[in-house]
Amino acid sequence: MDESLATAVDQLVHRHAQPGSSLLAILHAIQDELGYVPPRAVEPLARALNLSRAEVHGVITYYHHFRTQPPAPVTVQLCRAESCRSMGTEALAQHIEAHTGCHFDTAHEPGATVELESVYCLGQCALSPAMMLNGTLHARVSPQKFDTLFAAARKCVEVPA
Ligand code: FES
Repeated sequence: MDESLATAVDQLVHRHAQPGSSLLAILHAIQDELGYVPPRAVEPLARALNLSRAEVHGVITYYHHFRTQPPAPVTVQLCRAESCRSMGTEALAQHIEAHTGCHFDTAHEPGATVELESVYCLGQCALSPAMMLNGTLHARVSPQKFDTLFAAARKCVEVPA
């Protein structure tokens, strides 16, 4: 593991793991800061909260929200719950897969620039279909709107030649 990442993890655990702290709150804080919860965090979290490593690992893997590897630079989270389904999110998902050449809910290769993830309700049911693109919420997403947003997001992560 990268030494700077190990140091960052240790500092985050030390900063957030106080007596009475909630494991979930700490996991959210780590993921908010690093973009994921590195497996390296399990042992210091268990020690700080007087839990077993299996308990910490179990919570991380139980909640789909927590990532154990860094996200791709362009991450699409498309809502596939009822309201969005009734407004065409499955056709939109097919469009997104065809447009990006990626598949939803498959582990992305290290170095991949795009990741597609299904989520189930983003709290924007009245504005379906909804999606998050790199953490920003978008509503009433059409294929054309997706293409525009996706192009802008890709442009932001492209390294100039
Ligand atoms: S069902 Fe998609 S935002 Fe609620």
